[in-house]
Amino acid sequence: MSEKPLTGGSSTRRPFLAGNWKMFKTGDQAVAFVKEFVPLVGNLSDRDVALAVPATALQGVAEAAKGSGVIVGAQNLHWEKEGAFTGEISADMIVGAGATMVLIGHSERRQFFGDTDGWVSKKLAAAVSAGLLAVVCVGETLAEREAGKTFEVLASQLKGSMAGFVPKDEKRLILAYEPVWAIGTGKTATKEEAQETQAFIRKELSALGLPGQSLRILYGGSVKPDNAGALMAQPDIDGLLVGGASLKADSFAKIVNFG
Ligand code: PGA
Repeated sequence: MSEKPLTGGSSTRRPFLAGNWKMFKTGDQAVAFVKEFVPLVGNLSDRDVALAVPATALQGVAEAAKGSGVIVGAQNLHWEKEGAFTGEISADMIVGAGATMVLIGHSERRQFFGDTDGWVSKKLAAAVSAGLLAVVCVGETLAEREAGKTFEVLASQLKGSMAGFVPKDEKRLILAYEPVWAIGTGKTATKEEAQETQAFIRKELSALGLPGQSLRILYGGSVKPDNAGALMAQPDIDGLLVGGASLKADSFAKIVNFG
């Protein structure tokens, strides 16, 4: 892959395929993955490829991925520049490790660590001001979907998470729709469900005064090599955020090479 500029929103909505390793892989294992993975995805110029790795692997992966075009990111950040916040990392620390992206508001952060929409908006502001590309995640739980509240929940998450975000920073933002009931469960949203919901998200972004038509929206939740192509064929699915299936180089490479 050739080096290319980092852009969130783009008029062409170029495919964006991102792995999220969660709490898997030591530094050595992470670097070994990159060495195996990069040759498998070759010289792709029509799509973006990214890896969100554990904080301890950021620097090693950023060095190993240099020159490959693979975007390297963290999975979370704190909104303050520095301070007495044991266990947290700042945007500047991510940049200092050589990474250029960060996931914000993943449902596991919201569910297990108390991340709120208000925190997401502060984290987004910190990421933008440090020059990072932010991948902001939203999604409903099974109970919310079954109660017919999916759109209401997403509208409220988007409003809270995007508070303070301004259109001129669109190049720093990518959205990810991850239905909580589809994450790590083996239960993928059908392509129709994902398409319908992502079209709604795009409309809501526009209603918030943001460039909904040019922002990229990823789908995440039990993406596998055998469903990646069908999901990517949907008009409002611009990329994929992949957990489990991104942990092995060959399976993530198959997803990246969809189509
Ligand atoms: P999964 O995770 O692909 O393992 O379902 C997706 C995610 O949480 O980003």
